[in-house]
Amino acid sequence: MLQMPDDVILQVTGLKKYFPIESGFLLKKVLGHVKAVDDVSFTVRKGKTLGLVGESGCGKTTIARTVIRAYDPTAGTILFRSRDGVVDMAKAEKKDLKRIRRDMQMIFQDPYSSLNPRMPIMEIVAEPMKAHGVPKSVYEERVAELLKLVGLRPEYMRRFPHSFSGGQRQRIGVARALALNPSLILADEPVSALDVSVQAQVLNLLLDLQEQLGLTYLFISHDLSVVRYLCDQVAVMYLGRIVEIADVDRLYENPTHPYTSALLGAVPDANPKASWRPHDVVKGEIGKATADIKGCAFAPRCPFAKPECLEQVPELISVDPVNPEAQKSACLFARELSLPGVSTA
Ligand SMILES: Nc1ncnc2c1ncn2[C@@H]1O[C@H](COP(=O)(O)OP(=O)(O)O)[C@@H](O)[C@H]1O
Ligand SMILES: [Mg+2]
Repeated sequence: MLQMPDDVILQVTGLKKYFPIESGFLLKKVLGHVKAVDDVSFTVRKGKTLGLVGESGCGKTTIARTVIRAYDPTAGTILFRSRDGVVDMAKAEKKDLKRIRRDMQMIFQDPYSSLNPRMPIMEIVAEPMKAHGVPKSVYEERVAELLKLVGLRPEYMRRFPHSFSGGQRQRIGVARALALNPSLILADEPVSALDVSVQAQVLNLLLDLQEQLGLTYLFISHDLSVVRYLCDQVAVMYLGRIVEIADVDRLYENPTHPYTSALLGAVPDANPKASWRPHDVVKGEIGKATADIKGCAFAPRCPFAKPECLEQVPELISVDPVNPEAQKSACLFARELSLPGVSTA
């Protein structure tokens, strides 16, 4: 029997996902690998939200897709507390995945493309129930209930996706995700495609639902300002690795990794008095994690980099001896640097 602490829903350890880079069409030769996720570990507790943040291409979506086993991991364990007990998603057999995934559902970024335009809302929201053999007589009532739960009128179930706004479509996506009573929601940039004015409404809905239903979230975003509002803990990723993970207020007020501080500088109004402009650090495209990086992957962009930084890969270690779980950083100089953050939300 697999074990983990009672209050933990998801415990990911040493997760790796490498994609092969292949040449040509015939006689495929593997030229190398994209290390989309490279030795990532984190824990998500029941009823809490872990934010996963970083620039486009750093591996966030790959983590979510591997956790739900849309991708097979290259290495690592993914312990998940399903209603039938703790399972390792990394090793789960294909025949068991369907049953386990009742308890783990995804919400996607794009509410336009994730809803089939030819299906009425009723059929879209009922899809997961149909897949599990729930009869129509039961699911029709359940769809009405779900629509109410996400703040939509039940009679909307007869309409098609085109008659809804972006925010309403995302509510429909949330209703579908909730259809089978999951305990864990993997939300991949769920508000990134929405107008700023609508973002707050959807985030509020997610908060309300979490309270009402005791949901646990893995919340992915490239935007640190969105994440603060909703998360208990935040992990910052850079090129396939977590570079800092901390309780939410500590991460914002006292970042210990230069990349976190740089990302915070990209948040409007972030610390206008800072002596260096963190914003300057994060411009330009993030590289691809193909080559074997010898030292810290962020070193080439880091204003504090020293020769040591190019020599060894920094481990993610605690910066607080009193409360080791409260903040961990993968910077050799995490305890020495005094980095600007942003004050209270
Ligand atoms: N199916 C795939 N095949 C090959 N490479 C991929 C695939 N999916 C993602 N990648 C690569 O893995 C890296 C991480 O991508 P992704 O997880 O989508 O990042 P994010 O969600 O943070 O923007 C990128 O370099 C991306 O090009
Ligand atoms: Mg993504």
